[in-house]
Amino acid sequence: MPTSPKRLVNVNGQVFSEHEARISVFDRGFLFGDSIYEVTQTIEGVPFMLDDHLDRLYRSGEKIALQLPYSRDELKKELARVLKALAVEQAYVRIIITRGEGEIGLDPGLATSANLVIIAKELPPYPRHWYTEGVDVIVAHTLRNPTESIDPNVKSGNYLNNVMAFAEASRLKAFDALMLNHRGEVTEGTTSNVWIVNEQGLLKTPPLASGLLEGITRKHLLEICREQKIEVSLTPIHLEELQKAQEIFLTSSTKRLVPLRTLDGKAVGSGSPGPIWRQLSTAYDAHVQKIQAQAREQWQAVNP
Ligand SMILES: Cc1ncc(COP(=O)(O)O)c(C=O)c1O
Repeated sequence: MPTSPKRLVNVNGQVFSEHEARISVFDRGFLFGDSIYEVTQTIEGVPFMLDDHLDRLYRSGEKIALQLPYSRDELKKELARVLKALAVEQAYVRIIITRGEGEIGLDPGLATSANLVIIAKELPPYPRHWYTEGVDVIVAHTLRNPTESIDPNVKSGNYLNNVMAFAEASRLKAFDALMLNHRGEVTEGTTSNVWIVNEQGLLKTPPLASGLLEGITRKHLLEICREQKIEVSLTPIHLEELQKAQEIFLTSSTKRLVPLRTLDGKAVGSGSPGPIWRQLSTAYDAHVQKIQAQAREQWQAVNP
């Protein structure tokens, strides 16, 4: 029987096993989803694109007036603490900051002080067939919340739209769901950004104005495209354009670039991973190797 991966949790500076880690039921993260978070991983023990993730964590905090009681260096120290205890080459890392505990009530002023929770667990490699054959994705009926509500560009603990969209995919045994906005524009996957090569061969990814999280993989891939002079259009993508795309792929920090084989049960392009996905995936992997080498030097200088 396969054993489940080891999971450790740093709660406000103390590392616990998954069975011992505790947070109050009066915590606003639990009561209202009043929290922000980031997910990344380690590669050979070194956190991946950590500064980008911490930048986004602070940005998310600012957008919902949640003040982080930790400096960037303190957060890195707490992450290092739990990673040292976990001691695995490749770990999934989730950094959560909640507004804290307090009397039950919507007023954010009721919270005492923010809680920090860092979950670290072993991250086994993803199935190879995702990348060699592609994955099956659906378009969800559940819409992404509009930017005029809590902007999807805030990575908050409030993920119920995405949870319900994923449940739609799950019922159909699909890998994931793409979500539209109230104007019928494609936004993103439930935990990933989306890219297409449209019928005319143009590479596109939805603009932030469509309502989506500004993914770190998306940001780096846009930089790669700029460097390699690959044209990318950041104009809204409607369902019809999506359905006629020659290629579609998802991007995220842990899964990188995942090509689609089918959309709503119909083959995307030839039905196998396309040439633009291949080119960008190779370029992204090379980019990761380069920046991870620098990150390793910096991380090891502080955490020998
Ligand atoms: C809703 C959503 N969109 C996009 C992404 C991809 O972002 P990143 O590339 O920073 O992992 C995520 C990742 O967690 C996400 O939750």
